[in-house]
Parts: sequence; structure tokens; C-alpha cells
Amino acid sequence: ITPIIISPSLLASDWSDIKGEVQKCLDAGVPWLHVDVFDGVFLDSPHALTFGPYMIESIRRRFRDRPELVLDVHLCVERPERYVGAMAGAGTTRLIFQWEAMGDEINSAAAFARYITSLGMKCGISINPETDVTVIYPLLDTGMVDVVDVLAVEPGFGGQEFNRVAIQKIEMLRRYRDENLIPRGIDLKILVDGGINSDTSSCAIDAGADILVAGTALFRNPKGFEEALSELQERG
Ligand code: DX5
Ligand code: ZN
Repeated sequence: ITPIIISPSLLASDWSDIKGEVQKCLDAGVPWLHVDVFDGVFLDSPHALTFGPYMIESIRRRFRDRPELVLDVHLCVERPERYVGAMAGAGTTRLIFQWEAMGDEINSAAAFARYITSLGMKCGISINPETDVTVIYPLLDTGMVDVVDVLAVEPGFGGQEFNRVAIQKIEMLRRYRDENLIPRGIDLKILVDGGINSDTSSCAIDAGADILVAGTALFRNPKGFEEALSELQERG
């Protein structure tokens, strides 16, 4: 069985000690960080205002001796095309964009994915809880996207409750990948984002998720990071 990848979400970490928090992840053997980039506008809240290219660049520079560090940037902003070049220059590994920011339109989404990959980044696509998973199949068919971020909460805040609509989407994606993508040589990882904790992780894993993003359950767990991590990695 391929091991589950845990991707800690920096949103819930201690922002006064980002270096220490990233180090904690590396020390625990989870070199796959999830960085939510919100501009306070696309997700219309003054609180949904987070990191930018300076932060990505600082982390990349500080941990330049750890090239295995994956920096996934989840981009929830207005006019996302403005940020692609800056995120590539800052050392982003994978840029995950919102399907809904593309006017629900396959040609725009495909052009955007092409732009991201042309700058040397990997590309991920994210869908909101209310978005039907089948709308992204034509984008997956292009082979430009290697991760689907299935949101199990409305993006914007950590610590929200897991919406089980994500489970059915993960199962559908799994089936679509096995039947339609793998035979054509296209690989895809299924990531679940939001509301993941020791109660919800096992059903996400059983449904077929490859990557679990977790913020609150890791960084704000009274049991501590290491213990919280091993709970998440346990299969249900
Ligand atoms: C949702 C974000 C998530 C968030 C998850 O707004 O896209 O990445 O950080 O946080 P938890 O794990 O606390 O639900
Ligand atoms: Zn996210």
C-alpha cells in the first residue's frame, strides 16, 4: 500500500515561529507543506488575508538545504494570473488554483494550468464543496494537473467541520483515475483539504485519498504534533 502523505497546513501554525513550525514538519518526516494564499477578497473576509511570495521565498531560502521540501500553494485570490510568476520565482513546488476562479470554464482553466506548468511548477486544481467533481474531468484529461484538492470545508478558515460530500467526490475521482487516466499514463493524487482530524481521516483514506491536508488537528492539538501526526496516519 502506498503510504498516506500528510501535508500540514501552515494556516493553523504559530505565525510568530514559522521557521520552527516548518522544522517540526521536517523533523517528523512530513516535508510536504500546504500554504493557503488568501487575499481577503476572493474569500470575502478581512481575516482571510494570509501569505504572499515573500513568505514562500523566505521558507525556501531558510530551508535551501532541504530540497525535498514540497511547497504547495493553494491560491484563493482575485485575478490569480497576477500571482503565478511571483509564486514560481519564490520557489513554489505546486500551485493549486480554484476551479471557481476560472468562471467555471474549461478553456480558461486549461490555459491557466498551461501557464503554471510553463513556469516550471506543478499544477493542482481545487474544488469547493458545492462544485460537482465531474466538471474538472476534461481538465484532468489534459494531464497537466497532478493533484486534485477536494475541499471538505468552505475555504477561508481552519478548524471547520468536515463536510462528508468530499467522501463521495474522492471515490468518484479514484474511479475516474483508475478507469480513464491511469490507462492513458496520467497519474493523479487526490488530496483532501479541511476538517481532517483523527475521526475524519480514516474515511477519507478509505475513500481513496492520497494526501491529507491538516492544520488545526496537527498544530493546535493538545497531544502535540508528533502524536497528532501518528493518529492521522493510522488507517481506519
Ligand atoms: C481551508 C484551507 C485549509 C485549511 C485547513 O480554508 O484551504 O487548507 O488550512 O485547516 P483545518 O485542517 O484546520 O481544517
Ligand atoms: Zn487549502
